[in-house]
Amino acid sequence: MGTLMVGSLGPAVVVQAARQYGTPLYLYDERTIVERCRNVLAMPNAFGLHAGYAMKANANRAIVQLVAREGIGIDASSLNEVRRARMAGIASRRIVLTTQEVPEGADRSELETLMSEGLLYNACSLRQLHLVAEFAARTRARLSMRVNPGVGSGETVTRNTGDNYSSFGIHMTQLAEATSQARKRGLTIEQVHVHIGSGGDPAVWQSNVDRMLAITEQYFPSARTLNLGGGFKEARMPEEIAADVQALGHYAERRFRQFAERTGRRLVMAVEPGTYVMANSGYLVTSVIDKKWSGPEGFEFLVVNGGMECNTRPALYGSRHPFYVVSANGSVLSSDFDPAVKQQPGRVVAGRCCESGDSQTLDAEGHVVPRPMADPSVGDYVVIGGVGAYCASMSVFNYNSHRQAPEVLLREDGSLQLIRRRQTLEQITANEFALDE
Ligand SMILES: Cc1ncc(COP(=O)(O)O)c(C=O)c1O
Repeated sequence: MGTLMVGSLGPAVVVQAARQYGTPLYLYDERTIVERCRNVLAMPNAFGLHAGYAMKANANRAIVQLVAREGIGIDASSLNEVRRARMAGIASRRIVLTTQEVPEGADRSELETLMSEGLLYNACSLRQLHLVAEFAARTRARLSMRVNPGVGSGETVTRNTGDNYSSFGIHMTQLAEATSQARKRGLTIEQVHVHIGSGGDPAVWQSNVDRMLAITEQYFPSARTLNLGGGFKEARMPEEIAADVQALGHYAERRFRQFAERTGRRLVMAVEPGTYVMANSGYLVTSVIDKKWSGPEGFEFLVVNGGMECNTRPALYGSRHPFYVVSANGSVLSSDFDPAVKQQPGRVVAGRCCESGDSQTLDAEGHVVPRPMADPSVGDYVVIGGVGAYCASMSVFNYNSHRQAPEVLLREDGSLQLIRRRQTLEQITANEFALDE
C-alpha cells in the first residue's frame, strides 16, 4: 500500500498541508491545472480558438491568475465575478460577462465602463438585449448573444442548461425577433454563444456544434466567433469516462471548415470550461473525528470534519467523488483507484452538519450508499478528490456556523502556498446587528 498516491499528489504533501494549515482544507495542484489549461489551448480548431475559464467553478484570485497566465481569458457570471477578475489583474477585454441580471444604478455605470474597456457582454434574454442596446449602439461596445438551442445535456437534470427546462439564453424560437431588434438598433453581434450544460453527454455536445453552426448561418450573418461554452464531461471516479476534449476539437474543426467552404465565413471557435480545468486539480483534506454505527441493519459511519459545507455536490446532485484514506503519518490505507479497495467493507462518510444529507456517499435520491474503504482511526485523514470545481465556490460553507475552509495551492516547485486563509467567526458575524432594545 505504501506506493499509492492521492490522485496526482504524494501522501506526504497531504499530511504536510494538514499539519500546516489544519483541516478541513482544499488542496489544489498547480501542475494539473497548468496541464489542463494547455490541453484546452491545444484543442484542434479551424480558424482560431479563444478559451475562457468559467470562474464560477473556482473564483479564487490565485487560480484566476494562474489560468490567465496560461493564456486563458475569463467567463464571468456576475458583475462581482468581473470585479474579482479585475482585482486579479485581468484586462476587461479578456472577460466575457454572461449573467442573469443586468446591473442597475451605480453598478450599471460600472458595467458601461467595463464595456467601454472591451468587456464582451453576452445578452441572455430579449430584455437584456433591450437594456444594453442603446449604450452598445452609441459606443459600439462589443456584444454577444446567448442562445438556448432547445437541446442540452448535463450531469443531472439540474445541470442541463440547453433545453426547455432552462432559462438561460434566448430561445431558438425568439431568435428571429432578437436578431431583427439588434439589426434595427444598429447592433453588431460579434459572438454567438451557447452552453448546453455541465458534465453532459459528449455526443450531445458534439451534435450541438452542428446545431449552432446552422443557427449562426441562419440568424447571425456578421458573427465572427461561435462560443460553444464549457461542459466537458469529467471523470472523477475511476469507472467514469471523461469527454475526449481533443476529439471534440477535431470534430468541431472539421465542421467549422465545412461551414467556411459553404459560406465563406471563417469562424473562430471559443470554449469556456470550468470543470475540465479545475475538478480533478482539487482535493478536500478532512480529518476523521468520530466513528459510529447505526445498528445491525445500518451502516458504519466515518464522521469527518468537512462535509456538505465544503462539498455540497453529493447532496445536490448525488455526485460521487473518489476517497483516499490516509493515516496520520502519511500512508495511503485505501484509494478508490486501487482495485484492492473492493475487498474493504462499505462505509459511509458523514460530515459534521446537523443534516442527514450531510454525507459524501449519497445517491441522486439522497440515500446513503456505503463505499468500500479502509478503516481509519480517529485523527487519520479522508481525502476527497475531484473537488477543485464548484466546491469551494458553491458550498454552503457557513451552515452550522462552520468557517469556510482554507485553500492551499501546491506549487509546481513542491512548495505550499496559502491562497485563502480560514474564515474567522468574526467574519461570519460581521454584518449582523444585535436586537434593538
Ligand atoms: C455560461 C457558462 N459557461 C461555462 C460554464 C462552465 O461549465 P463547466 O464547468 O461544466 O465546464 C458554465 C457552467 O455553468 C456556464 O454557465
